[in-house]
Amino acid sequence: AQDKRESLYVLSTWASKFFKVQLWNTESGQSIALSYFKERGYREDIIKKFDLGYSPDQWTALADAAVENGFHKDYLKEIGLAIERDDASLYDRFRGRVIFPIHNLTGRVIGFGGRTLKTEKTVPKYVNSPESDIYHKSDVLYGLHFAKKTIKDNDVCYLVEGYADVLSMHQAGIENVVSSSGTSLTSGQIRLISRFTNNVVILYDGDAAGIKASLRGTDMLLEEGLNVKVLLFPDGNDPDSYVQTYGSTAFKEYIAKYQEDFIFYKTNILLKDTGGDPIKRAEVIREVVESIALIPDEIKVSVFIQQCSHLLDIEERVLLTELNKIRIQKA
Ligand code: CTP
Ligand code: MN
Ligand code: MN
Ligand code: MN
Ligand code: MN
Repeated sequence: AQDKRESLYVLSTWASKFFKVQLWNTESGQSIALSYFKERGYREDIIKKFDLGYSPDQWTALADAAVENGFHKDYLKEIGLAIERDDASLYDRFRGRVIFPIHNLTGRVIGFGGRTLKTEKTVPKYVNSPESDIYHKSDVLYGLHFAKKTIKDNDVCYLVEGYADVLSMHQAGIENVVSSSGTSLTSGQIRLISRFTNNVVILYDGDAAGIKASLRGTDMLLEEGLNVKVLLFPDGNDPDSYVQTYGSTAFKEYIAKYQEDFIFYKTNILLKDTGGDPIKRAEVIREVVESIALIPDEIKVSVFIQQCSHLLDIEERVLLTELNKIRIQKA
C-alpha cells in the first residue's frame, strides 16, 4: 500500500510538471492561460510559487503523455486525472482549464483544482480531484504548506473561501492564509490550524453564501477553543477581487479596521433583522448564547456574557441563566 501511495505521489508530481510545461512552454498555454492569470493581476513569481498550470483543451493530452511515460492506467484513474470510458479508453478530467495544484503539509502535490476559462454559467467553474489514497479533502487546507511558518510567526491564520483568494493575499504580502476550497470546515482542518495558532480570522465572500457560511461554519472553531474573528467583504467582493481592485494597502487597512469578534459579529447581524420584534429578539438572544456556550474557556465566556448583555440590552443574569440551561441540556 505504501508503494502504491508513493506511485500516486510520483504521478501527481509528474502531472503538475506537465501542466506547468503546458502553461509556460506552449503557444496555447501562453496565449490562453498565462494571459488569463496576468489579466487577473497575478505576478509571475506568484504563478510560479504556487505551481500554477494549464490543461490543454484536448480529450487525452495528459493521459496519452502519462502512458507514454510509463505510468499505469490504474493509477491515472485512481488519482482521478483520467476517467475511463465504456470501451476502457481514458480521457482527461482537466481539459481547457487553469490548474491549481493542491499540496500537502510537506509540499508534495496531492490533487488539483481546475478553473474554467469560459464565462458560460453552464460549465462548472471548478473541477477538482476526487478523493484518493493520497488526497483526503477533509484533511487538507489549500495553501497551508506555503502559510504554516507565517501562521506560527504571526500567531493568526486567515481563512478564505477560494484558491484565488490565497494567491492574491500572498501577492499582497499576507502569507498566513489558507482556503477550505468552498466547503465548510471539518474537524480535521481545524486540528491542522490549531497546530500552528489559536487565532482565526474568517474572510469570506461578501455574498449571501459567504454570510451563511460565516454563521454556520464557526461552531466547531469555538468548541476547539480557537479565537474567531470575522470580516465580510462589501458588494459581492471576495479577498481576491478586493486586493486586485483596491490594492494591497487598502486591503490591509480594510481587514485591520473591520475584523470583528465572531460573537459580536453574530449578535449584530442577527439583531439587524429583528426590527424590534420581541419574539425575534428573544430568539437572537438564545442563538448568541448558544454560540457563547461552546467556548471552553470560562473567563472568555464571562467577558462575552458581559459585553453581549450591553449589545443585546438585557441583564447579564438572564444570559447566564440561559447559558446554564443550554449547558445542562448538552451534558
Ligand atoms: N469551488 C468548487 N467548485 C465550484 C465552485 C467553487 O470547488 N463549482 C470551490 C473552489 O475551491 C473555489 C471556492 O469554492 O475557489 C470558492 O468559490 P467561488 O467564490 O465561487 O470562487 P472563487 O474562488 O472566487 O473563484 P474565481 O475568483 O476564480 O471566480
Ligand atoms: Mn463565493
Ligand atoms: Mn473570486
Ligand atoms: Mn470567491
Ligand atoms: Mn457591564
